[in-house]
Amino acid sequence: MTYRGAVILGVGASLPGRVVTNDDLAARLDTSDEWIRSRTGIGSRRWVEPGTSTSDLAVDAGARALRSAGTSTADAVIVATTTPDRSCPAIAPDVAARLGMIGVPAHDVAAVCTGFLYGLANAVGLIASGAARTVLLIAAETFSTILDPDDRGTAVIFGDGAGAVVVGEGEGAIGPCVLGSDGTGADLIQVPAGERYFRMSGKEVFRAAVDRMSDVALDALARAGLGPDDVDHLAPHQANRRICDAVARRLGLAESKVLADLDAVGNTAAASIPVLLADAAATGRIEAGDRVLAVAFGGGLTWGATTLVWPDVTADFGVLGEG
Ligand code: UT7
Repeated sequence: MTYRGAVILGVGASLPGRVVTNDDLAARLDTSDEWIRSRTGIGSRRWVEPGTSTSDLAVDAGARALRSAGTSTADAVIVATTTPDRSCPAIAPDVAARLGMIGVPAHDVAAVCTGFLYGLANAVGLIASGAARTVLLIAAETFSTILDPDDRGTAVIFGDGAGAVVVGEGEGAIGPCVLGSDGTGADLIQVPAGERYFRMSGKEVFRAAVDRMSDVALDALARAGLGPDDVDHLAPHQANRRICDAVARRLGLAESKVLADLDAVGNTAAASIPVLLADAAATGRIEAGDRVLAVAFGGGLTWGATTLVWPDVTADFGVLGEG
């Protein structure tokens, strides 16, 4: 079998139009703009209106990534999500069909906040095995639909959004994807069986996130034959600004190399990294040829990292329904 490498051919992201500020939340919860900003780095987030689904965001982000890649189709579709429109079936076939791709292989990936990187490893694997020459990978979430409105420990953190990439054959641009899991921590981030709302043990998760993200980022660099000095930008899962900064410190990376957008979008779970990359590319913070180290941690527990050489593409970043 001939193994093929993979590159990113297009990047897109879609956010819901409704902005929810910290003050909006403080009006009904025992919290404050000062607490949320200083403890998390989040200033506002975007939540869908009732009636807008994860699939709606996924379709818009997917269409934008395809447009960015200068194509209208792909050989396979993967959707990474924790908040599918329904628990069965997967939403990827529906998303693919709505994008005009009937007949292609399509499946969901469930790895919570590590979903995009698990999906990327899946996409690279489909290409390496010859099963597909191009893959549309979308990470889409509507965490607002599973947040307990009275739980200040989670309601202030999560936002909705979707990001997508088109992955295709090509050498050297997507480095080795290093992934891991530890199911003994499954209860730390969960929707308990039979319940409606998401629960998180914030403190324990915080500590595990810093440890696992630092270790797996170093593994991904080593597997790519790189060191921290080769990294132009750290693209960490936007869980908490303090987690991102702690990981950067452990890797010896200057704060100026840490990409961040959680001030405006919060933690969008699986969508976090592709939304961040699309935003950073669209605003010129990352440029073609830059070396990006992407790293995530989330429920499962799961974690992952990879290195990317940023492609020469125009990212398509926008708001759902606004073209
Ligand atoms: O995306 C998947 C991975 N997720 C993460 O990585 C999230 C990781 N965890 C975190 O980001 C942080 O743990 C949180 C932001 C969730 C919480 O921040 P913290 O600094 O760990 O706060 P804490 O849980 O230790 O709570 C400190 C205090 C507590 O009050 P007492 O017990 O000291 O009186 C909390 O009740 O802050 C209180 N608190 C709040 N106060 C105002 C917790 N949430 C809030 C809030 N507003 N929203």
